[in-house]
Amino acid sequence: MSTNAREPIGVIGTGYVGLVTAAGFAELGSDVYCIDIDEAKIDGLRQGQIPIWEPGLAELVEKHRGRLHFSTDLADALEHARLLFVAVGTPPTYSGDADLSAVHAVVDAMPASDRHALVMKSTVPCGTGEAIKRAFREQGKEGFRYVSCPEFLKEGSAVKDFLEPDRVVIGDDGDWAGDAVAELYSPLDTAVVRTDIKSAEMVKLASNAFLATKISFINEIANVCEETGADVVEVARGMGLDDRIGPKFLQAGIGFGGSCFPKDVSALKQLAGNSGYHFQLLNAVIEVNELQKRRVIGKLEKHLGTLVGKRVALLGLAFKPNTDDMREATSLVLSARLTAAGAQVSAYDPIAEDEARRLMPGLAFADDALGAVRDADAVVLVTEWDEFKALDLSAVRDAMAGQVLIDGRNALDPEAVRGAGLVYEGIGRE
Ligand SMILES: NC(=O)c1ccc[n+]([C@@H]2O[C@H](COP(=O)([O-])OP(=O)(O)OC[C@H]3O[C@@H](n4cnc5c(N)ncnc54)[C@H](O)[C@@H]3O)[C@@H](O)[C@H]2O)c1
Repeated sequence: MSTNAREPIGVIGTGYVGLVTAAGFAELGSDVYCIDIDEAKIDGLRQGQIPIWEPGLAELVEKHRGRLHFSTDLADALEHARLLFVAVGTPPTYSGDADLSAVHAVVDAMPASDRHALVMKSTVPCGTGEAIKRAFREQGKEGFRYVSCPEFLKEGSAVKDFLEPDRVVIGDDGDWAGDAVAELYSPLDTAVVRTDIKSAEMVKLASNAFLATKISFINEIANVCEETGADVVEVARGMGLDDRIGPKFLQAGIGFGGSCFPKDVSALKQLAGNSGYHFQLLNAVIEVNELQKRRVIGKLEKHLGTLVGKRVALLGLAFKPNTDDMREATSLVLSARLTAAGAQVSAYDPIAEDEARRLMPGLAFADDALGAVRDADAVVLVTEWDEFKALDLSAVRDAMAGQVLIDGRNALDPEAVRGAGLVYEGIGRE
């Protein structure tokens, strides 16, 4: 991979996407001027503290300390870079639309310039680029260029995804800025989709909505498997070998969470609705996902009867393995439902505990999996961290008061679980 000096860039927002993008472009040879409004985060980054847990990120940031510059002052990026990548959050509003206030704060903070371009990495509704260009014109900043360059990295493998992407999508107006972004990505061996801004914005929303649809689809198949006696793991294996379907995102479970799928699906649904189109399929995708998280309660009641006073252990709290991200995690819904049903909930997560403690103060947190399952009537595997796949199941059974193990991610071998004297219940399989 080329590490020759390349065009310096700015990155605004140093969260999961911004910091990975910054470290990734530093790896490709750029000096990167990273800006965030969070002073504590910037102070920490200057001292080498990485605010998120993401495999390989700390090493990459350390490797390129000389190229990575951290500041709360936008002027530092504007002085050194003409391309300013925007990676601020776009969380959902109560209406389900994306909250673009952080994006607009960045737009409003830009000076009039013929030399700079905003490169949008944040996930924004289709039409945002047009609105931003209009705002630039109204603010007398028509010289400012705009590029849509949506990000597809996955938390848990974000560094790898940045350096080995399936594709890079660049939507632009055919001016210097789009070419400059394409040049930045040129060391990567990947397909580059050059297109217009609206289509680039839509590629991102449609991709996430499609993946979420695939998950809700296999979850509904799993629910039918439970009624018919088929095994969804076998069904998915048979389906996934079809080249037109593919094996990915066909793992049945207790629903998707995270900072992207729920909000992006909802944002696309609202975007369609605001334009007068009722996106019926996405309504079902969202509803199936919400119901799927709650089906665990029914499974527990099947084995334990009332949950009042019952001890239930949750293994894994992060929204997926290899991240500390708790945003929209299934564990949040599950723990709230269990507590409301009168259960006493203990929990363990290898990495996400600090954030989980903040979000779920009523839970009893343990230092390890065996600590969490001690005296439990039932255990629910919520997040399929590797360490749970390697659990000593006999030790789990000995530590528990009851025997029920709900495998919310179909991550364990049912026969091994039963062999250890536990009662196994997966999702869509016996
Ligand atoms: N997390 C993912 O896996 C992922 C993947 C693809 C796309 N995205 C999209 O990327 C965007 C960022 O997501 P994230 O998970 O990195 O968010 P994040 O919350 O981890 O990080 C956002 C950062 O922006 C900073 N910020 C907010 N307003 C700012 C401002 N005005 N100026 C400078 N900094 C500001 C915040 O302090 C924070 O550090 C979102 O639109 C998200 O949908 C996220």
